[in-house]
Amino acid sequence: LVAALPRRHQSILELRLFHGFWLPEHWIPGTIAFQRRFSPRRDDVVLASYPKCGTTWLKALAFAVAARGAHPPAAGDHPLRRLNPHDCIPFIDEIFAGGEEAKLHALPSPRLMNTHLPYTLLPDSVVTGGSSCRVVYVCRDPKDMVVSLWHFLRRAEPELSFAETFESVCDGTVAVGPVWDHVLSYWRASVACPDRVLFLKYEDLLLDTGAGVRRLAEFMGMPFSAAEEAAGDVEAVVELCSFDKMKGLEVNKPGGGTAGRYKAMPRDAFFRKGVAGDWANHMTPEMAARLDGVVREKLEGTGLAFA
Ligand code: A3P
Repeated sequence: LVAALPRRHQSILELRLFHGFWLPEHWIPGTIAFQRRFSPRRDDVVLASYPKCGTTWLKALAFAVAARGAHPPAAGDHPLRRLNPHDCIPFIDEIFAGGEEAKLHALPSPRLMNTHLPYTLLPDSVVTGGSSCRVVYVCRDPKDMVVSLWHFLRRAEPELSFAETFESVCDGTVAVGPVWDHVLSYWRASVACPDRVLFLKYEDLLLDTGAGVRRLAEFMGMPFSAAEEAAGDVEAVVELCSFDKMKGLEVNKPGGGTAGRYKAMPRDAFFRKGVAGDWANHMTPEMAARLDGVVREKLEGTGLAFA
């Protein structure tokens, strides 16, 4: 089903309702091509997220984990010290949209790819489990997601008010929304197939990044050896991918260029504050209670909750 949205939501991205989710219109051809033509490898890892929930961080962590044989995390010339994580791991549907599948074929195994699509829109070849392709999802307290989203979008549209962004998220008419359906699509998959879908929370990663890195590595089939543990490699990954380190890189400073699919967005737009709870600086208690209420109602009985 494809339907148009009221005009006020279309000022930033033209959204279309596509199988229950509001997709930016220009994502749809790439999504369909991805669904039809993606041929997974056994050791592929798809990194999935709702926008502004820790995609950039997850990309950095997964890249550092997967590449650590060729690029020890403490090495001074590590690619993550000169490249934005979005330049290390491609948006998979963008590759299909651009007819650049050769780039996918050329990626060394294990291939790391990224998507903002909900689980229900991933190709059958990924979700049926016929391949052993793995999926890692990161989610975040929707209240902090809204704040992050607003700051991000207003880089492209300075007039956008926080209230308008908040309303769009609450009524679900925001890119890849409704957010609760997006989160639930991966939550349910992770409950049904925990060996194929890993469900992470941004807040848990902040609390204990090392534990998240170990979990990620085990899930990706490349756990840290005793020798690596003793050498402090987990801590080195944490440090390499830390918010302060990444934000301070030349490539991620204002003016450092644009990133991938968000061609209008400079790379520094992906590093703002990197904390949990910033919503309290933007929302009235009533707004917070309203969004919490909507999310709680949608997640009720699923075993998933945001604190
Ligand atoms: P804030 O805007 O709240 O600071 P995404 O990567 O999905 O677009 O999400 C962006 C959010 O993740 C931003 O949140 C950004 O600051 C935060 N972020 C980016 N890199 C991070 C890192 N290395 N550690 C923690 N948070 C990070």
